[in-house]
Amino acid sequence: MRKLFIAGNWKMNTDAKSASALALGLAKALDASVYKAVDVAVCPPFVYLQDVANALAGSKISLGAQNVYFEDNGAFTGETSCAMLKDLCCEYVILGHSERRHVLGETDALINKKMHKALASGLKPIFAVGELLAQRESNETDKVVKTQIEKGLAGITAEQMKDVTIAYEPVWAIGTGKTATPEQAQEVHAAIRALILKMYNKNIADAVRIQYGGSAKPSNAAELLGKQDVDGLLVGGASLKVEDFAGIIKAGV
Ligand code: 13P
Repeated sequence: MRKLFIAGNWKMNTDAKSASALALGLAKALDASVYKAVDVAVCPPFVYLQDVANALAGSKISLGAQNVYFEDNGAFTGETSCAMLKDLCCEYVILGHSERRHVLGETDALINKKMHKALASGLKPIFAVGELLAQRESNETDKVVKTQIEKGLAGITAEQMKDVTIAYEPVWAIGTGKTATPEQAQEVHAAIRALILKMYNKNIADAVRIQYGGSAKPSNAAELLGKQDVDGLLVGGASLKVEDFAGIIKAGV
């Protein structure tokens, strides 16, 4: 039985005051019963990780970062290492997000390097994959997602897969208000699980959590989470409002 995992990706939003307030508000809005059913994490911008870590102290909400670099230290202006994230109590790191792939130009090879470094450092990657609208319309979804997974997870061992969450985020559904139907999500999630079975083994395929991301909101969360292979959500816009994000999380209880 896979425990649900719902994470909020704040992207490049909030400021010092609102980041702390959002974290505090969320911690207050969720009671102990929630955490029996759902693992919860928030991924604020780097510069507010410390503030949010302070705000979350004593709560069961985990902290994640939105990116990391694969080198230990050195002349890499503007980058952040895994050790730095560990210093700030990060448990998770989002890698392969579509905005990093398509806006910031990250390749599968770079994402794979980051996956290796994160896992070797004790960070748990939320590894995101997903197709563009044109790729879905030309029936390339399976092929695109398969390539992203095979290349992103190249060399990752079965043992390491225990710390990996996969997030299926169709790019056309991100920030557009256009959610994949639960059936569309389930279809791709099942294909991803079948691929993990082929690449690893049944234990890993049965255990790996696959989140859906793309315009998840309180009104569609229960239906999405009701699908067999949807094990959680990676939430952007709706994770910026306590009421909405708490509503999404409670849909999983
Ligand atoms: P939205 O929920 O705003 O569509 O964003 C999804 C996402 O990209 C989460 O990583």
